[in-house]
Amino acid sequence: MGHTLFGALGLFSLNILLYCGHAQDVPQPVLTVSPSWTSPGDSVTLTCSVEPPSAGWRFFWYKAVPDMSSTYNYYTFKLLAGGTTGTEQDSYILHGQTHTAGYKCRAGRGDPVSYTQYSGVKFVWSGGVNPAASLTVSPHRLQHFSTESLSLICEGNSTEWRVMKVDEDGYVSSCSYWGEMTGSTCNTTRASSGVYWCESETQFSNAANITIHRGDVILVSPVRPVTEGHSVTLGCKLRTENLLYNVDFYKNNTLIPNPARGELLISAVTKSDEGFYKCRGRKSPQGLETSAESWLSVKCEYEF
Ligand SMILES: *[C@@H]1O[C@H](CO)[C@@H](O)[C@H](O)[C@H]1NC(C)=O
Ligand SMILES: *[C@@H]1O[C@H](CO)[C@@H](O)[C@H](O)[C@H]1NC(C)=O
Ligand SMILES: *[C@@H]1O[C@H](CO)[C@@H](O)[C@H](O)[C@H]1NC(C)=O
Ligand SMILES: *[C@@H]1O[C@H](CO)[C@@H](O)[C@H](O)[C@H]1NC(C)=O
Repeated sequence: MGHTLFGALGLFSLNILLYCGHAQDVPQPVLTVSPSWTSPGDSVTLTCSVEPPSAGWRFFWYKAVPDMSSTYNYYTFKLLAGGTTGTEQDSYILHGQTHTAGYKCRAGRGDPVSYTQYSGVKFVWSGGVNPAASLTVSPHRLQHFSTESLSLICEGNSTEWRVMKVDEDGYVSSCSYWGEMTGSTCNTTRASSGVYWCESETQFSNAANITIHRGDVILVSPVRPVTEGHSVTLGCKLRTENLLYNVDFYKNNTLIPNPARGELLISAVTKSDEGFYKCRGRKSPQGLETSAESWLSVKCEYEF
């Protein structure tokens, strides 16, 4: 009885809030970015969708600028060049996207312009190193056990850094919510899967798609893209032991023939080695334990 009453009151006041905040009938567009991981020189397409779609909208595009003094909003947003009048197209192409960056959009129509709400912020990530800002993950791999402690280290051309994460639901948060930032290092034992990067007032680092695994087996794979022609070794680690001896590696769910039992050596990687890798222990105590998948990224030789 009491609960129902509270529930009803809650709903009632929520309605008033929405109404007074005029959020009720102002649409919120959804921004998508494609691709979400870039290599130097890529073009990235931002698309701003308003529901229901109708003619007459103009679209406004914004870039995220880290606001180091804000522990809640994190960013201020700057109109992209030439954006004051908006674009007629609901998409915007960024040429030569090199580094990690965040974007927002909104639509508007009429004179004076009435705007939609802003979309949520969406990021374009780069795994490649930006010398002015770089993220190092320790231990040096993309997958970690849920019981492990993790260090995320920022280096580059700034004295003030913060480590950011977008979790699997698209929620953005900084290290201060799930770890401890000391100087330019974030240490945490409460990490969750998501994309992590460092940022300063002016720079975004490379990003890493980190998987925190509750199971007993993880894949050991590099955090940074591997340069074409270089070698890479993938391993498979058991929670209670070091490397497993008897493991199978899979790429895009297909078993890779591998004469070496404990690890997978690719002596000269090519673009065709890119894909989702996972490993499976053949003789782990629980039987056949499978790791999560991680993307192995390969970069061209001329990229830095
Ligand atoms: C580092 O910052 C200084 C001053 O802002 C700038 O002149 C220099 O080019 C930057 N170096 C890199 C590698 O970005
Ligand atoms: C963060 O963790 C690493 C590895 O456990 C440790 O060496 C380092 O001292 C820690 N840093 C801080 C500031 O606690
Ligand atoms: C593996 O899957 C990814 C993503 O679906 C794809 O881009 C890649 O080309 C695939 N690789 C192979 C060898 O099928
Ligand atoms: C991160 O990796 C997981 C597991 O491989 C994948 O499902 C997810 O799509 C990746 N996230 C991004 C943003 O690339």
